Amino acid sequence: MTRTIAITNQKGGVGKTTTSVNLAASLAHCKKRVLLVDLDPQGNATMGSGVDKRARSATVYQVLLGLSTAEAVRLRSEAGGYDLIPANRDLAGAEVELVGLEHRETRLKAALAGIAEHYDFVLLDCPPSLNMLTVNALVAADAVMIPMQCEYYALEGLSDLVNTVRKVRQNLNPTLEIEGLLRTMFDPRNTLAQQVSAQLQEHFGDKVYATVIPRNIRLAEAPSYGAPAVNFDRGCKGSQAYIALAGEILLRSGLAQAA
Ligand SMILES: Nc1ncnc2c1ncn2[C@@H]1O[C@H](COP(=O)(O)OP(=O)(O)OP(=O)(O)O)[C@@H](O)[C@H]1O
Ligand SMILES: [Mg+2]
Repeated sequence: MTRTIAITNQKGGVGKTTTSVNLAASLAHCKKRVLLVDLDPQGNATMGSGVDKRARSATVYQVLLGLSTAEAVRLRSEAGGYDLIPANRDLAGAEVELVGLEHRETRLKAALAGIAEHYDFVLLDCPPSLNMLTVNALVAADAVMIPMQCEYYALEGLSDLVNTVRKVRQNLNPTLEIEGLLRTMFDPRNTLAQQVSAQLQEHFGDKVYATVIPRNIRLAEAPSYGAPAVNFDRGCKGSQAYIALAGEILLRSGLAQAA
């Protein structure tokens, strides 16, 4: 059974891409077959997987517009140990172009249908907006993972996202679940972070992952080396946290024994 997880938060810079590449690498390290789909015109997940976004002519953009297939566009991230469907700035045009097309919300789901079965996990790295690309991710996904920083405005943005998930569930993807909320860039010495964290647990209970991702400079440095931190410095605190997160997800999905 494939589990497709959309890693999303319309707020920018909360750790979506860092989570996408390091979780993909951690699950691959646990011998799971992983496909990472970059759905952001910034192409950060592509670069963070050690793939030059500028050198790619075929990307997720061609797949969404029906000009190519997911199978033809996917490639191997040797640095990550997983497969990747890359993105670059071409994708910035997709939002407008999709509007005129039929089945505009279900294009990613349809495109992945042929290859998803080859993977244990398909991870979708979403852009920082609730646009048509994110809607495509929410329609293609079984579940949503929400990385968030424990800051003052975090909870406000969360209610917009939860409403969007609810709307997608009503209209397009009735079985969409919230997989979990992930606290990122966490600093336990920060009192506000602790308060927001406590509120999150109060509201969302066990939907909040037990694993917390600490603020860790190695996670921020890794993209400049073209590799997920998990493969570039497995011993650092940030990498260890992502490996623990993969363990938590495998345990929740009942796949731990098969590792
Ligand atoms: N745990 C962490 N510790 C330190 N730095 C981090 C951590 N997680 C992410 N960062 C850094 O914070 C910045 C934003 O992270 P990232 O790109 O993963 O966020 P994002 O949500 O994908 O951003 P965007 O919304 O632009 O796509 C990056 O420079 C990244 O290296
Ligand atoms: Mg990103």
